[in-house]
Amino acid sequence: MSSKLNLLEQRSSQGDVRVELGERSYPIMIESGLLANSSVVQSVVGLSQCMIITNTTVAPLYLEQARQFIDNVFSPTQLDTLVLPDGEEHKHLDTMELIYSALLEKGHTRKTVLVALGGGVVGDMVGFAAATYQRGVEFIQIPTTLLAQVDSSVGGKTGVNHPLGKNMIGAFHQPRAVLIDIATLETLEDRDFSAGMAEVVKYGLIWDQAFFEWLEANSKQLNQGDHVLLSQAVQRSCEIKAEVVRQDEKESGIRAILNLGHTFGHAIETATDYTAYRHGEAVAIGLVMALDLSQRLGWIEAEWCERTVRLLNQFDLPVACPSGIGAAKMLELMGRDKKVLDSRIRLVLLKACGQAVVTSEFDEACLSEMLAEI
Ligand code: NAD
Ligand code: GLY
Repeated sequence: MSSKLNLLEQRSSQGDVRVELGERSYPIMIESGLLANSSVVQSVVGLSQCMIITNTTVAPLYLEQARQFIDNVFSPTQLDTLVLPDGEEHKHLDTMELIYSALLEKGHTRKTVLVALGGGVVGDMVGFAAATYQRGVEFIQIPTTLLAQVDSSVGGKTGVNHPLGKNMIGAFHQPRAVLIDIATLETLEDRDFSAGMAEVVKYGLIWDQAFFEWLEANSKQLNQGDHVLLSQAVQRSCEIKAEVVRQDEKESGIRAILNLGHTFGHAIETATDYTAYRHGEAVAIGLVMALDLSQRLGWIEAEWCERTVRLLNQFDLPVACPSGIGAAKMLELMGRDKKVLDSRIRLVLLKACGQAVVTSEFDEACLSEMLAEI
């Protein structure tokens, strides 16, 4: 795909990561203060239309800065903005209508570029709008939550929820660039910061023991918001995600390891009506359950469960399954997971710290025993 945005790739900074997907490759630029310093990105002239889409929480914080950044870097002849309501409950098809209507009312053509400014909810919806508006336009991600910076903005999964299931309507559509300004994390609520750290810990567990140990050694400074260390954590997380996506863009195999803890986590989110936990908090509990099961199966040492619980605690994350759901309900909800194959639950489990597998080849009695006990 030839794109005016390719000029973005002239920038090569130490912290940047590249997602290698042939003609759909793109850069992830990571920098504290990136949005306030558009001179660090090569100037690109000639974009015709652009729409920045954000929500009511992020708009007062970063929309003007992002507007100036896009104006300076891309000099679009038409630059529009759209502010959506905030919240996971708005991640559905009715909100997509708002985006399509705004684009049509403002006369955006197939050459337009959409910019997603916000967390994973905005990113997933704007990505889906880009995948579907006039059969597909380009888009840029400017993720402003830790979870979006290390996970949802990278890899091209886009979509919305359906009343019968989360993320059930969607498309794979890769962004042209991901622009990460670590400074935006300063305004995040503590719980949202912690929720993002659960996904960061996940990368250590599935891929890189040394990164897990680095997180253990630096958890205090990361919690204090040290920009240098946060940039390093985001960079390593993006490198791991970029490598997994490079190997398996459409999740026919290894990409599923990115869902360590998620089958348990999704069941907990559903059982508690999406009101008790942030996604990342439910994932934290799910990580502990996945490690507990891996240990019961004799695949990992008990030490890794203990160290993971300790690390998640250090990031103020919950680690215990809420009482009251019950093993039978958990099993029922886990049976609805997208990874279920031929009626068998498939789980991401660990063979070692840094080595994840996706498998239905485990003793289900161990799973039932674990669910009954915790
Ligand atoms: P979110 O987008 O709801 O953001 C959390 C809250 O933080 C929101 O209220 C948001 O407005 C606010 N916010 C965003 N940036 C802020 C900032 N800098 N300062 C202050 N407040 C800010 O939630 P999230 O955790 O970012 O993302 C969760 C969503 O991501 C879910 O819908 C999930 O399904 C999706 N997701 C997608 C993928 C993927 O691969 N596409 C991966 C993981 C999660
Ligand atoms: N968040 C999981 C994935 O992108 O595959």
